[in-house]
Amino acid sequence: MSQEPREEWSGRLGFILAAVGSAVGLGNMWRFSYLTSENGGGAFVLLYLLLTLLLGLPVMLAELSLGRGSGRGPVSALRNFGGRRWSSLGALFVLSGFVILSYYSVIAGWTLRYVATTVAGGFPADGGEFFTRVSEGNEAAAYHVVFMIITMAVVMGGIRRGIERTALILMPVLFALIGGLAIYAFTLDGAGEGYRFYLQTDFSQIMDPDVIRQAAGQAFFSLSLGMGAIMTYGSYLSGRHHLPQESLVIGGADFMVAFVAGLAVFPMIFALGIQSDVSGSSVGTLFIALPTAFQQMGTAGTVVQVVFFIALFVAALTSAISMLEVVVASAMDSLKFSRKRATLIAGTAITLCGILPAKKQSVLEITDMIVGDVLLVAGGLALAIFVGWHMRDPIDHASEGAADVRWFPVWRWLLRVPIPLILLFVLYNSIKSVYAAIIG
Ligand code: PHE
Repeated sequence: MSQEPREEWSGRLGFILAAVGSAVGLGNMWRFSYLTSENGGGAFVLLYLLLTLLLGLPVMLAELSLGRGSGRGPVSALRNFGGRRWSSLGALFVLSGFVILSYYSVIAGWTLRYVATTVAGGFPADGGEFFTRVSEGNEAAAYHVVFMIITMAVVMGGIRRGIERTALILMPVLFALIGGLAIYAFTLDGAGEGYRFYLQTDFSQIMDPDVIRQAAGQAFFSLSLGMGAIMTYGSYLSGRHHLPQESLVIGGADFMVAFVAGLAVFPMIFALGIQSDVSGSSVGTLFIALPTAFQQMGTAGTVVQVVFFIALFVAALTSAISMLEVVVASAMDSLKFSRKRATLIAGTAITLCGILPAKKQSVLEITDMIVGDVLLVAGGLALAIFVGWHMRDPIDHASEGAADVRWFPVWRWLLRVPIPLILLFVLYNSIKSVYAAIIG
């Protein structure tokens, strides 16, 4: 296979929107609102913000520096800077991307299904019954396959014509949809109670190791860190980019979208009187409680429901694209596949693996727990150790295009000591609780 010349983003806007597209996903709406409601509302939001700044942004800068410095996907990037031994960390990243996409796409398939059924006018009054019918089994698998085909079509188009163009069109649409939903939620009677619940700060919970580990895991998941997605996108950057600034913009946008999505979701939950249905299931709120309530609101509810699930679908698509790109870029680098061939083979393999979580929701939930809470954190920990201790010249790579920044030594120190310590603590607690959840 001939090696195609390395592609590059057309400019800053294209890169930023694509990276924000990767970060803003189901995690911002589905995972964030669920975790916040379980773990003390506003205090959790603050803890999450703190961990995004302290853990997320430094690791994002590390990923961008490695990607740009090597101009390669994770496997080759880590081999380039760390030799053979470290390239296995790159392989772990590719594996994580592969596994996450296989179940992420199943959930994305549900969103597609919700849009289709609502538009066709066939959405039943009971969201729970609908969810049970469509979330597992052959129909779920079919929608997962459709979603994967769309994702593959975009990635096959390449960096500029596929990924960047999709982000340029869809991200503004997504911002408008989520902003619109938040404004609509504001007009509802009883919205105040939702805000109060969302933003009430119950500090008693946030010293709980379990809450801390979930906030840290969510920060990694939501920023697309710990599996090479941001690294891969960074590999299509040129030396002109100011990486600390780009990290801040991506992290800031991701937080803002999660926060605004919360401003939409919580008032709706309270205004619609469904707070008691917001069950322990991570998917219950978005896929059962909200649609059930929307259905009781007549035409307005149906319109809001369509907008809501289109927003989820768009958010999921731009994230899924970045997961597939990790696998595709690595296959192009290491196996010298063409983009088309890499996308077809990787995409088909992921689609096949996704059949399992599509058929059994328990597989999906366990995989999400293992990946979100353990694999991404482990990947981030290994990466922090690599850049903090092993890599010879990380500051040279990070500071290219950012000569004005003086605190790169602080950045490296964060990656050396505090971040690994915190991540070790998080990882230990996560493994313990995932083990308990699976065995117990
Ligand atoms: N950040 C995405 C979300 O919040 C998920 C994701 C994880 C995307 C890892 C890419 C890599 O939904």
